[in-house]
Amino acid sequence: MKILVVGSGAREHAICWKLNQSNKLSKLYCAPGNAGISQIAECVDIKADELDKLVEYSVNNNIDLAVVGPEVPLVAGLVDMLNEKGIKAFGPVKAGAKFEGSKSYSKDFMKKYFIPSAQYEVYTDSKKAIDGLKKFNAPIVVKADGLAAGKGVLICETIKEAEEAIKSIMDNRQFGDAGNTVVIEEFLRGTETSLLCFVDGKRIIPMESARDYKKAYDNDRGLNTGGMGCFSPNPIYTEELKKYIKDNILDRTLNGFLSENINFKGVLFIGLMIENNQAKVLEYNTRFGDPETEVILPRLKSDLVDIMLKCIEGNLSEDDLQWKDDKCVTVVLASGGYPENYEKGKEVKGLNAADSDIIIFHGGTKLSEGKTVTDGGRVLAITSTGSTIEEARTKVYKNISKIHFEKMEFRKDIAVGQ
Ligand SMILES: Nc1ncnc2c1ncn2[C@@H]1O[C@H](COP(=O)(O)OP(=O)(O)OP(=O)(O)O)[C@@H](O)[C@H]1O
Ligand SMILES: [Mg+2]
Repeated sequence: MKILVVGSGAREHAICWKLNQSNKLSKLYCAPGNAGISQIAECVDIKADELDKLVEYSVNNNIDLAVVGPEVPLVAGLVDMLNEKGIKAFGPVKAGAKFEGSKSYSKDFMKKYFIPSAQYEVYTDSKKAIDGLKKFNAPIVVKADGLAAGKGVLICETIKEAEEAIKSIMDNRQFGDAGNTVVIEEFLRGTETSLLCFVDGKRIIPMESARDYKKAYDNDRGLNTGGMGCFSPNPIYTEELKKYIKDNILDRTLNGFLSENINFKGVLFIGLMIENNQAKVLEYNTRFGDPETEVILPRLKSDLVDIMLKCIEGNLSEDDLQWKDDKCVTVVLASGGYPENYEKGKEVKGLNAADSDIIIFHGGTKLSEGKTVTDGGRVLAITSTGSTIEEARTKVYKNISKIHFEKMEFRKDIAVGQ
């Protein structure tokens, strides 16, 4: 099969890496890809949000399966457009991607189907939203409804701060149209974790668990980022918690999909807050997570092409997902200044010095005059498996010491004490 992966991050590199192991693959393409991806796939110079060009390319090159990584093309309906041209695509159609594209839509769905989640109100008018703050106690969570590249959620310690957040999102349009509607939520306490699931329209089947590190610096200090490291499995998933999640979240979500005639196929990423072995849903995303994918796919024994095709055909079963006992750790090497301003174009050195069992997923790199240079905030995800988390972690950090680019930053505490 000829397969096209859409996207350019470490998530897409991990997807390409895993697809590349399938004997069903005849040729792998990635649009636009990056320097690392170009070693295993033909990179196509089309960006992930150039939907018409992606469809045209897929038609002209007889692509058998397109795999859409990022949320922006999913929410814009790329899968629907490909399907209209008779091209199979892995990822939800627009009606499914709305669970990520609109937080108010998701919250209303959760309420309707009794899925445990934070109390909330939805507003389309800033004065009414500010007035509505009366219903909440601080801290208060203010969220832009639409896609805001992971920046649209503001945790406000005081009512005053929440008012400022509403004004900045709705009146000053900090996130553009994404902030035409806001969701105000009760602040939940507990331990945060995410669960990625394959969905085939009729079943929601969880993958192995992972825990990511969102804050920029050690000991969870600094700003929120896209994720600075991750490990799998996550010991928080006790059998008791798994059962709770199945009964109260997965089964009810599926019931909602079926009742609303939403033919969801692809990956459903459920953000959870855990307290006392119970879980509440923080959000749905409708694609693989980054960096979760970088630690989950190296643990997957089964063929990813098979799984994706079964999701599309609607006949995935739990037995289709076989996992290795190995544990996995990834640490992100970021450009100094990320998640705020950072420079690009720094040469990445030492990539060839890494041990052969280390997997280096590229996030923000490109080739320039034959050299690999930085081209984003999260540059590389250095990944290793091991019989224990500690073994994997030690291998990752040992190899990080061989890799260097100017102003490279990374967390030193990923998976410590696990
Ligand atoms: N009700 C809540 N109570 C406490 N913390 C919350 C709440 N809602 C969101 N958060 C915090 O804010 C973060 C971002 O929220 P959310 O996942 O809804 O936004 P997002 O921008 O869509 O994130 P992502 O980029 O992961 O998709 C969460 O990971 C969590 O740390
Ligand atoms: Mg989200």
